[in-house]
Amino acid sequence: MEREALLALARRAAQRAHCSYSHFRVGAALIANGKPYVGVNIEISSYGLTLCAERAALASALSNGDTDVTQIAVTCIDASPNAPFNERTPCGACRQWIADLAPHAILYIDGIDRDFTITDLLPYAFGLPTK
Ligand code: THU
Repeated sequence: MEREALLALARRAAQRAHCSYSHFRVGAALIANGKPYVGVNIEISSYGLTLCAERAALASALSNGDTDVTQIAVTCIDASPNAPFNERTPCGACRQWIADLAPHAILYIDGIDRDFTITDLLPYAFGLPTK
């Protein structure tokens, strides 16, 4: 799928974010085994247990048995138009999930013209050998 189409899917998903505390809606859309999956951020009253949009999308794809993730689009639809990179890019926990579960994916971040690999965002990532 094209970059813009995947970002559009992420933006549509972000409308369904559960973020009554931060009011900061995030949507993620990814392609795994050629199929689209989406995720939104889900906040609960114990804030630290919040699930980010990227991890929600990855969990959905893997739960369906689709593990070959080739592209991930992320949008923070409540970020201001001139928000800096750090208000748009995945958090540390999501970077580690992507490093482990989608290491070859191309990342499209809404509002940033260039594309990223996870190595760009998380160099020297932790990882264990798989058995
Ligand atoms: N959030 C995400 O969904 N993904 C990220 O990578 C960064 C942060 C969410 C978590 C919380 O619901 C809101 O954005 C504000 O931090």
